[in-house]
Amino acid sequence: MTNSNRIRAGMVGLGMIFDETYRPMFVSAKRDGLFRRDYGQVELELAAVASRTGSRVERYRPEFPALQSFSGNDAVARLAATNVDAICVATPDDRHFAPAKLALEAGKHVLIEKPSVLTLQELDELQRLADAKGVLAKVVYHKLADPDHKKLRTHVVDDVLKHVNNGYCSLLEPKSISGSQFSEWLTGRNPGTYVAVHYLKLIDFSFGPHWKLTRITATGQRGQVGPATGPTWDSVQLQVIYTHPDQREAAFDIHTSWVTPDNFPGYVDQEVQFRFDNGVWIAHQRKRGVEVCIEGRTPNELKNTPNHHYNGSFVEPWGDRSQRGYGIEILQRFFEEVATVEFGGPVDERPARLKAMQSLSYNDLSADRNCVAIVQSMEAILKQHAAGDPGCLVEVNSSEGGLVLFSKNGTRKVLYPARV
Ligand SMILES: NC(=O)c1ccc[n+]([C@@H]2O[C@H](COP(=O)([O-])OP(=O)(O)OC[C@H]3O[C@@H](n4cnc5c(N)ncnc54)[C@H](O)[C@@H]3O)[C@@H](O)[C@H]2O)c1
Repeated sequence: MTNSNRIRAGMVGLGMIFDETYRPMFVSAKRDGLFRRDYGQVELELAAVASRTGSRVERYRPEFPALQSFSGNDAVARLAATNVDAICVATPDDRHFAPAKLALEAGKHVLIEKPSVLTLQELDELQRLADAKGVLAKVVYHKLADPDHKKLRTHVVDDVLKHVNNGYCSLLEPKSISGSQFSEWLTGRNPGTYVAVHYLKLIDFSFGPHWKLTRITATGQRGQVGPATGPTWDSVQLQVIYTHPDQREAAFDIHTSWVTPDNFPGYVDQEVQFRFDNGVWIAHQRKRGVEVCIEGRTPNELKNTPNHHYNGSFVEPWGDRSQRGYGIEILQRFFEEVATVEFGGPVDERPARLKAMQSLSYNDLSADRNCVAIVQSMEAILKQHAAGDPGCLVEVNSSEGGLVLFSKNGTRKVLYPARV
């Protein structure tokens, strides 16, 4: 082990989430490096980026003067051909697979924004490549690092909260997300894929793994961000059923939208309720802490009910300025896992370290099967709905296939033939 261990990172996509979370993480990592006794001191450097036009790169030059920039149709291929060690993919939801595949083919560790990919067929392909190349393929689910959600899962693991039966989750995004932020790639998209995955993973990770995903249904509304009969959705209501080992079913309803008024006090509204045999867990993202009003600044520029735990910029008591929170920590944790694999002990023990990091089910692609299966099913149900066939249902691991879509008109379609 030397003092010059270094991870060179590449980034695909320089949009909102890069600016809010990756940028501050790379800035503090550049200043402080990574350190742990097993892997020692590791330099972490944002070395290269790929984006469509390259126009946003100059904005980040002052912080990352040596940044290599690639743009145009072959930008990701050229980024993957450099000597970066890991590549983060933060492109629109339906553009994760191609860059992740190029990165894995080039033997890079990969971190993908949620939703990882949109079909199990794509997931299988990425998993095969990650295994063949001996690298990590992971997905970002920051809600699992929220202290409240950690405590929820701790209660479940410790059998304090017993046997979840049902629950609901709601995540409402403002109109500005569908109206301007994502207008370029919104056609044919839905808010369920965009944000329900946060809660799908929270449920699957917190209450699994000894249950079986069983059925998926979904419906939604159109007419605000696109035509009332078109393929673009304003809001989505999803229901997911699991079966516990004792054959009792658990049901979860997840409501999402991206047409909430922009002057809504909290920007994003999020709440959950989970009911157990012996308890109820109710959490509200906006109502767990601060309420603030500042003339001329809230609720648009600043929020009335901010979540400083996710991501906040602060003057620390010791004088430094910082930007921190679980939305940033979760990204640094990925690079700590890369550091563990590459520098956490003797070279001949790398396969064991790789296996240990791949067994972390909170972020490994191999543990994202249920979430991707639900997304694939929801998208197929909504597509069928837009084609004039509402009310479809997907059954999981039936005798006819891993994901089978049943229509009210009696037809069925295998979305994924192998077992989920
Ligand atoms: N973890 C979270 O809480 C969170 C929050 C917001 C967004 N996201 C996810 O992050 C991803 C990006 O979201 P965003 O809000 O930053 O979107 P955005 O629209 O602000 O930015 C997308 C970026 O990708 C680039 N891009 C688009 N197509 C590309 C391509 N084919 N090749 C290379 N670059 C391309 C765009 O130029 C832009 O820089 C989405 O999948 C989204 O679901 C995650």
